[in-house]
Amino acid sequence: MSLSERERIRIADLASAKQRGERFAMLTAYEQYAAQIFDEAGIDVLLVGDSAANNVYGHDNSLPVTLDELLPLSRAVVKSVRRPLVVVDLPFGSYEASPAMAVQSSVRVLKEGLAHAVKIEGGAYYADHVHAVVNAGIPVMAHIGFTPQSEHVLSGYRVQGRGEDATRLIEDAKALEEGGAFCVLMEMVPAETAAAVDAAVKVPTIGIGAGPSTTGQVLVWQDMAGLRGGQGQHVAKFVKQYADLRNELLNAARLFGEDVRKGTFPSAEQSF
Ligand code: KIV
Repeated sequence: MSLSERERIRIADLASAKQRGERFAMLTAYEQYAAQIFDEAGIDVLLVGDSAANNVYGHDNSLPVTLDELLPLSRAVVKSVRRPLVVVDLPFGSYEASPAMAVQSSVRVLKEGLAHAVKIEGGAYYADHVHAVVNAGIPVMAHIGFTPQSEHVLSGYRVQGRGEDATRLIEDAKALEEGGAFCVLMEMVPAETAAAVDAAVKVPTIGIGAGPSTTGQVLVWQDMAGLRGGQGQHVAKFVKQYADLRNELLNAARLFGEDVRKGTFPSAEQSF
């Protein structure tokens, strides 16, 4: 059965998609309407990303967002959708110290956030964390390559896994698969390296700036729909904008403002 025929996406469906050579789509979502629309559009996986920090809460990187801030967004997304698998990021500071800490935070994601899985940033070092979380009954998506929570160690937004460094990424992916991750997401990795990682693991892979060989592809929805990009906001090379929502909204708000100032809104039609 293909993914589109599934009434509800489970982690096993993503695994069989890779075996069949079928690709799947993932977008971030942080609230009700976008989540509902993405469900209706057939998006298979929704991520309540810690990118809520810079797409909801107004920060300029993902570090400040907390689990307490992500959980209400997760509840809103889960309650608004029927079919997609909903994954939530363990934000910076909510898991690093120990596998036990990762389990405690992940339990909150499922219990209070009502989500179906968590995503953990980091390489082979985190295989024990992943193992503990999976043993607690919680599916884990691993996130390797460029991991935004480590931007200071990585000296900024830089492509990871170039040349000989590809071996490190392959080893990371294998260790995390061994730890029990149901999927490996790769961010800002050369297409060739991503293809090698995908070939080295049985679990499905997801790419963001990782070329075309991964089983799935993910984008931040405000990037995908062209909502970001104003006020000097940088649009990454790996983004393809499928709409110009920013200008649509800008235009609508300007027209509304003009109507109000001219006294043409509300008209008789909008009055009681
Ligand atoms: O938080 C996020 O948006 C992510 C990306 C990989 C989509 O982790």
